[in-house]
Amino acid sequence: MKGPSMPTIGFSAVGLAGLLLISIGPPRSRPPSQIQAVITAGSRVAANGFELVSTSIDLPQDEERFTGAPYAEIVNANCLSCHSASMVLNQPPLARAQWRSIVEKMQHVYHAPVAAQDIPKILQYLAAREEIGSHDATLGGPS
Ligand code: HEC
Repeated sequence: MKGPSMPTIGFSAVGLAGLLLISIGPPRSRPPSQIQAVITAGSRVAANGFELVSTSIDLPQDEERFTGAPYAEIVNANCLSCHSASMVLNQPPLARAQWRSIVEKMQHVYHAPVAAQDIPKILQYLAAREEIGSHDATLGGPS
């Protein structure tokens, strides 16, 4: 006798898991009206009268890494262990000397392990990003 096909097993498993979740209930049950609000058009999977809906949400843009100018990788290596790139790139326009004192503050106040020979490259990168307009949101985002 031929057994049930893989998709059938898969959908049944999803359906069973769903029924199980329904019978147990979520840790903190939300009223149905709230649940409705989360569901928007997205891809849907239905099985055994139970439907799973995937939704997409927009998160605020957060530039995670340094890109777009020479020495980006050196800045990535030195400056991402404690905060994201956007924390640095969203600063108001700064002169090279101000960037230098920020990097020194990272070293001395927050104990960032920045190698001395990397500092000129880091400053060159930050100054270059300043010139090409890192404050222009259209340049942001991973690429
Ligand atoms: C050892 C952890 C650490 C590293 C590595 C580090 N930072 Fe920071 N950075 C901090 C902390 C902590 C703050 C303050 C966060 C806050 O105020 O919420 C900060 C804040 C900043 C700010 C915001 C302005 C300010 O003065 O507070 C800038 C700009 C900045 N860092 C740049 C850099 C650059 C450039 C590098 C790489 C050379 C770097 N950071 C590496 C810990 C670090």
